[in-house]
Amino acid sequence: METVGVVGLGIMGAGIVEVFARAGLRVVGVDVDEAAVGRGRGHLELSTGRAVDRGRLAAEERAAILDRITLTPDRGALADVDLVVEAVPEVMELKRALFADLDRICKPSAVLATNTSSLSVTTIAAGTSRPSQVVGMHFFNPAPVMKLVEVVTTVLTADGLAARIADLAVRLGKTPITVGDRAGFVANRLLLGYLNHACRLLGEGVSGRDDIDVAMREGAGLPMGPFQLLDLIGLDTAYEICEVLFHETKDRRHAPSPLLRELVAAGRRGRKTGEGFYART
Ligand code: CAA
Repeated sequence: METVGVVGLGIMGAGIVEVFARAGLRVVGVDVDEAAVGRGRGHLELSTGRAVDRGRLAAEERAAILDRITLTPDRGALADVDLVVEAVPEVMELKRALFADLDRICKPSAVLATNTSSLSVTTIAAGTSRPSQVVGMHFFNPAPVMKLVEVVTTVLTADGLAARIADLAVRLGKTPITVGDRAGFVANRLLLGYLNHACRLLGEGVSGRDDIDVAMREGAGLPMGPFQLLDLIGLDTAYEICEVLFHETKDRRHAPSPLLRELVAAGRRGRKTGEGFYART
């Protein structure tokens, strides 16, 4: 795989574009219109610019990375790519419609991957004429930093495809695991129960926001406390994953906490809106 496409240039999509381009692949990044493409370009310039400022990336290397990236609102530009990774919002109808379109646009040998964190990869695959070439390729936020990639297979996935995607992930400097198509896969299945539980503790007044965050950073050695991490992930995203997990598992641990529900309803979605559990400083 030498040329890849990424659809959706939000925080995750732009991060995934950066990961591919840093590994030397040519990337076509697509979003709905020029404004969304411009926001994606902004994410990429900020992230690679920060790496240069920190002395982690030479300015010439940054220029070479950006040179390997083409950003456009035209999905037709994906006709010749070997792989597309979809990173659009977590709405099944949106993904199904997009995959039907990609199926029509992309060459027959292209692999279509979804970065979904909670939706059924099988349902997405079944809506295309090439379900054996559809997989999950689930990156973690921030994509340029986090090493894990969950390679999600379905009963329809072609033999050998998971291994090809895992090899690609290694080439990207990532650590792949293979997982079946079950809600939340592995990492979110475990992580969201914990984050939701932290919301319950806060809602019940067991301790304060800052103290719970300190407890998990200083007592459990995590890089971020649960509320800092929820702000990074997005409260709306966390809420939606909990809903899907609860629906599939019927496990009360995943029933979204009332506090999380309330904050999402209030529009406090975390860093992306400037305020979640914390206000942006
Ligand atoms: N984009 C690119 N690079 C970033 C970045 C971003 N958004 N944020 C941080 N970095 C880089 C920095 O440039 C820095 O790189 P260098 O060491 O090469 O300079 C490095 O990451 C460390 O950053 P900082 O020093 O600024 O801050 P930090 O040490 O506190 O680390 C962190 C920041 C990497 C985010 C760290 O706090 C962390 O690992 N947090 C946990 C993140 C996590 O658990 N993510 C998974 C969320 S779950 C998920 O994503 C799944 C889902 O489906 C919802």
